[in-house]
Amino acid sequence: MTQPTPIRRVALTRPLRVLDTYSCIGGATAGYRLAFPGCHITGVDIQDQPDYCGDAFHQGDAIEFIRAYGHEFDFIHASPPCQGEGAPTKGTNARRNAEMAALETTGRPYVMENVAGSEVRKDIRLCGEQFGLAVLMHRYFELGGWTTVQPAHPRHRGRVRGWRHGVYHDGPYVAAYGNGGGKATVEEIRTAKGIDWSTDHLRLREALPPAYTEWIGRAFLGSRAATGLGVAA
Ligand SMILES: C[S@@+](CC[C@H](N)C(=O)[O-])C[C@H]1O[C@@H](n2cnc3c(N)ncnc32)[C@H](O)[C@@H]1O
Repeated sequence: MTQPTPIRRVALTRPLRVLDTYSCIGGATAGYRLAFPGCHITGVDIQDQPDYCGDAFHQGDAIEFIRAYGHEFDFIHASPPCQGEGAPTKGTNARRNAEMAALETTGRPYVMENVAGSEVRKDIRLCGEQFGLAVLMHRYFELGGWTTVQPAHPRHRGRVRGWRHGVYHDGPYVAAYGNGGGKATVEEIRTAKGIDWSTDHLRLREALPPAYTEWIGRAFLGSRAATGLGVAA
C-alpha cells in the first residue's frame, strides 16, 4: 500500500535551497528534488561522489560545512553513516550528537536520519513497504524545527529473500545490504529503491530510496503551510 502524503504547497519567492549532508550518490537528494520542484540542492560528502545527482557538490566534512554554511540553506538533511555498512565510513553516536549540535546552531529546519541503535530521537520511522517498494530498509528520522505525523507502518507482505543459516527464503523484498548469500544485485537494488543513475553496489546499498525524502519534503511543506511559517527567505 502506498502511503498518502501531505500535498499542501507553500508559495516560494525563489528556489528552495537544500543541503544534503553525507550525500553519497544522492538518494535523499533525488527525493527532495521531487518534493521541492525547482529547488537547488548541494551535496556534501567526505568522499568524492562522481555519481552524485544534485546541483552542486562539496567534498569535505559535513559538520564543518554545516557550521560554516548551514544557515544559508532553507532545509538541511543529514545521513551520518551507520555502524554496520560501508567500513570506511562507519558512524558513531558521538558523531550524531556533534552533527545535531551543528544543525541546531543553524536555526534552520532539518532532518537527521538514524538507525535503530542510535541515540538520536526517532520522530518518524519509514519503511519501503509504505511506498510499495521491494526493499524494507527501516530508517528513523529526527525532525528539527518542524514536526509531522508518523505515517502508519503497514504489515510486511512477506520475507526478505536470500540465504540465512543455510536456508533459502523467498519473499517480495531484496536484501540491499552486504554481499553474497542471495543479497541483491546492482540491478535489483536500482529497481527496488527507484535509483537509476548509479551502478555502484556499495553506494546503492547505502542510499535512501528517494521515495522516503520525497515524503519527508512534502510533509515539511505541509507543516509550513499549516503553521503559516512559509520558508526562510
Ligand atoms: C549512509 S551514506 C548516506 C546515503 C545518502 N543519504 C543517500 O541517500 O544516498 C553515508 C555517507 O556519509 C559519508 N561520510 C562519512 N563520514 C563523513 C563526514 N565526516 N563528512 C561527510 N560525509 C561523510 C560517506 O562517504 C557516505 O557516503
